[in-house]
Amino acid sequence: MKTIGVLTSGGDAPGMNSAVYSVVKSAAANGIKVYGIKYSYWGLTNDIDNCLVDFDLNNIGDILNKGGSYLRSMRFKEFYKEEYMQQAIANCRKVGIEGLVVIGGDGSFRGARDLTVRGLPCIGIPGTIDNDIPSSDFTLGYDTCLNTIMNLCNSLEDTISSNDRCMVVEVMGNKCSDLPLNGGIACGANVIVVPEIMESINNDATGYVIKKLRQARELREKTAAEKGSKDIRRHYLVIVAEKMDGVNVADIAKAVQEELGIESRSIILGHLQRGGKPSAFDVITGCQMGNKAVKLLMEGIGNRVVVKKGIDIVDYDILEALEMKSSLDMDLFKISVELGA
Ligand code: F6P
Repeated sequence: MKTIGVLTSGGDAPGMNSAVYSVVKSAAANGIKVYGIKYSYWGLTNDIDNCLVDFDLNNIGDILNKGGSYLRSMRFKEFYKEEYMQQAIANCRKVGIEGLVVIGGDGSFRGARDLTVRGLPCIGIPGTIDNDIPSSDFTLGYDTCLNTIMNLCNSLEDTISSNDRCMVVEVMGNKCSDLPLNGGIACGANVIVVPEIMESINNDATGYVIKKLRQARELREKTAAEKGSKDIRRHYLVIVAEKMDGVNVADIAKAVQEELGIESRSIILGHLQRGGKPSAFDVITGCQMGNKAVKLLMEGIGNRVVVKKGIDIVDYDILEALEMKSSLDMDLFKISVELGA
């Protein structure tokens, strides 16, 4: 193999650039050239001439520790269409790309598998803040995002503790509860609401939050009374996962204020969660994954996704990986409930 392509796909994530950096440097160390492809599968299919980045050891230098995606990232939903895939393969042949590294989520891996089947070996690397790729314990961007959530919520804590308020915070995670649950624990949330508990709380997120906050307040007051103290902690942080039908942080905050008399505000962290420099963990994982992807392509192997299992970097067949399932860590959720007061 003489030339490899690399692209980033789906929502951008800190650590994607680190993986691109590693692909370029690992390939160079083995005498292989790398083209970056801007704008993901769309660029590969529709505008290859303007989307090629001629990477080398001199121009790759400073993307290792940069947030976002230098190559731009996007979702090209029509890429499943045969005509687009054939066009992508023809474009690769035209510029000499013999293998492709795709950094993104499950949807991007499907494209990687389809291209491999059509003759272009592709390797997937999990890059998304959501950690919603069951085959990997960690996706690139997840660790950084957890730290971002913790730091943003610590800032919120400064203000709510000054005003004895409750803040209800919506956290991104795209139907995966890893960010809200772990982010919530990391910032000392009093209540965490994730999709997996909705059935057990009769789909009443607001009622659940009020019940847990009331319990927390009673416990704090009881503790103070037992000591004969008037020093009572009076601020609260509630973390709510995004994309839950009928659940709205502004409504929850209003209800908390009305029913418990605690002045309340709400905030959606949104895309603030996605930015920022990657953590050392994401940088190093990106370097490991990028290196492994190059090694697989050098052996002529495609249709694999490179993942982190514990501390190991391993690879799976893409279809096998796509069929894997993960579930909420209920033990961790129970811990978060015990830490709630
Ligand atoms: O997949 C990453 C993610 O940030 C999700 O957490 C979120 O639901 C979604 O992307 C937001 O997408 P967009 O950037 O298109 O608004």
